Amino acid sequence: IHNSLEDSIYEVGIRCALGYFPCGNITKCLPQQLHCNGEDDCGNLADEDNCGDNNGWSLQFDKHYTKDKYNKLKSLYAFQTNTPECLTGTVPAECTCQGLEIFCDAVKLRAVPSVSSNITIMSLQRNLLRKLSADIFNKYQDLKNLYLQNNKIRAVSKRAFRGLYNLTKLYLSNNRITSLKPNVFEDLHKLEWLIIENNRINRISPLTFYGLKSLILL
Ligand SMILES: *[C@@H]1O[C@H](CO)[C@@H](O)[C@H](O)[C@H]1NC(C)=O
Ligand SMILES: *[C@@H]1O[C@H](CO)[C@@H](O)[C@H](O)[C@H]1NC(C)=O
Ligand SMILES: *[C@@H]1O[C@H](CO)[C@@H](O)[C@H](O)[C@H]1NC(C)=O
Repeated sequence: IHNSLEDSIYEVGIRCALGYFPCGNITKCLPQQLHCNGEDDCGNLADEDNCGDNNGWSLQFDKHYTKDKYNKLKSLYAFQTNTPECLTGTVPAECTCQGLEIFCDAVKLRAVPSVSSNITIMSLQRNLLRKLSADIFNKYQDLKNLYLQNNKIRAVSKRAFRGLYNLTKLYLSNNRITSLKPNVFEDLHKLEWLIIENNRINRISPLTFYGLKSLILL
């Protein structure tokens, strides 16, 4: 992606402001988040060119996930067809539960709910979370996927993700995060996907991504 952008700048001499990219050989600059989002925003498909095997999929995923509560999740995560009943004990009234997976999407949550510690998926998308405080997920040591996108998260404690040793996918996209403190992901040795686009990050440190030994997608 970087090379193709550099090339097109070089070829046609179009300079775009910081945070914008050029639309191939036409004199148009678009905001960075439209790049590789699966839609032809330039009009000449230049913004969907050279997207590698990414093709804006994570944006697409986000869109799908946020459309309804969990029907889409159900098919995408290949739920085992015969285990619909809840195996985690009681869950908050606004949440739904299947097996060891809990979905509390778009229910105006302002705080992370406390649920049974044996859950493997927790989805809190499209709520009103503003901060992630220290050790808030610490008891969920079996958690594999954590969905926090489309909230209003601004502050992330450097201990927010402590204890999530088994987490493989973390979604933080479409929030208002401005900085990622050193060692914030330190315990996430098994994390493979860190999806954090569309935030307001202006500060990271050399130690921000320390500990992410299994990361394949950022
Ligand atoms: C841009 O490139 C396309 C395809 O290579 C070409 O058809 C088109 O005429 C070019 N437009 C301009 C303004 O150079
Ligand atoms: C998960 O923990 C709850 C208590 O928090 C318990 O009732 C339930 O049986 C546990 N489920 C499994 C599958 O171990
Ligand atoms: C989660 O991680 C801990 C510590 O690494 C491990 O003991 C435990 O078996 C893991 N649980 C699952 C469900 O993988």
